[in-house]
Amino acid sequence: MDKIIISGRKKLHGKVSISGAKNAALAILPAAALSDGVCRIENVPNISDITLMCKLLENIGVNVKMLNKSTIEIDPGNMRCEVASYEIMRNIRASCYLLGALLGKFNESKVYLPGGCDFGIRPIDQHLKGFKALGADYSLDAGMVQVRCDKLTGSNVYLDVVSVGATVNILLAAVKAEGLTVIENAAREPHIVDLANFLNCMGADIVGAGTDIIKIRGVKTLSGTNYSIIPDQIEAGTYLTIAAATAGDITIENITPKHLESITAKLKEIGVEIYEYGDSIRAKGNEDLKKCNVKTMPHPGFPTDMQPQITSLLSRAVGTSIVNEAVWDNRFRYIEELRRMGANISVDGRLAVIEGVKDLIGAPVKATDLRAGAALVIAGLSAKGKTIIEDIKHIERGYENMVEKLQSIGAEISKIRETDTQEEVG
Ligand code: UD1
Repeated sequence: MDKIIISGRKKLHGKVSISGAKNAALAILPAAALSDGVCRIENVPNISDITLMCKLLENIGVNVKMLNKSTIEIDPGNMRCEVASYEIMRNIRASCYLLGALLGKFNESKVYLPGGCDFGIRPIDQHLKGFKALGADYSLDAGMVQVRCDKLTGSNVYLDVVSVGATVNILLAAVKAEGLTVIENAAREPHIVDLANFLNCMGADIVGAGTDIIKIRGVKTLSGTNYSIIPDQIEAGTYLTIAAATAGDITIENITPKHLESITAKLKEIGVEIYEYGDSIRAKGNEDLKKCNVKTMPHPGFPTDMQPQITSLLSRAVGTSIVNEAVWDNRFRYIEELRRMGANISVDGRLAVIEGVKDLIGAPVKATDLRAGAALVIAGLSAKGKTIIEDIKHIERGYENMVEKLQSIGAEISKIRETDTQEEVG
């Protein structure tokens, strides 16, 4: 039960190097298990979700070797078609990618229904619809889903909702299916493109990733490859928002500016100066934040995974801002924590109405999920006084060395163990 303590109101200046993309890595590691050889994957973020994914793969016989802190070697030579540990699966949403990976490899998979951040109902009907179109039957029993077929055959799949997870899972199952699979209304997120690029490096035949129609012509074998994962769009967006919240001047490095367009557009509306370079962006914040309205959408819209962070920023903007969460049905739970810090936000279904306040005041708060935790860090960095954030395990699922990165640009922030906290708060 580690905690983060922040003394707010420091202007942050300097450079932050962005790590590899969590959601790309979480799809690419199980994809590597489809290979007939060994894959070496670079720029993997050092975060607990990746540790869990590696444990999950090891649990079914995949040999996972850390070559250094950001490079992982995956050898699926001894991979088994087995049920992976419930204890691991229930903690990570991307564990459902084992469904597609095992189905693609063994024509069969059986997994526990996945866990991960709790934003309300998280169905997998579109994943199953895709598997069925490829010729697999599925059944649900006692918290487990089982999918099997004699042979996977390419087919057309129209997704009723734009789903990242379903697009990933159908790609994993279809890559070695016989014939052509077409996914219509596919997700277009940068990590979908990264997954398709990785699979193509292994010998797959995928075109159209990044558009809403992806065509996959099945291949018989996939070879080992070396690959470097794209930078994390959401980590990058979080540090840009931190520059805005602290009236700081932060340059984020090792990024793809194109992936951040929907985020920088909103930050500009809020009054942040944005300077784009080849693989970096400089954000210069102002004391005066302007109100703005935000609606989350699938890519290239504003990402739902940046919604808590931008809401946290807008809690200090002059005037009334409205945030419409159009992807998840229950992603405002953290607002109660922001209110404890003085934010004036009301929630009505999927809408948050934010009346900007002049100051947030530090308080003890609790991270309810990964991005909610990031929102509280942003609030704490801009608040007067001391903020203590509990349940930081959520933050560590997706942000590599967040405390150290923030310290390096001048934040007064530290991580403490529960026993230290008792002394400190005591
Ligand atoms: C992924 C991300 C998550 C992000 C989300 C949306 C990973 C590991 N997680 O989650 O951080 O918030 O994309 O960008 O990459 N839906 C259905 N049926 C399905 C699948 C989804 O109705 O079978 C709905 C969901 O309830 C949700 C919407 O589709 O309303 C988007 O979900 P989806 O894109 O699948 O999210 P995840 O892949 O779970």
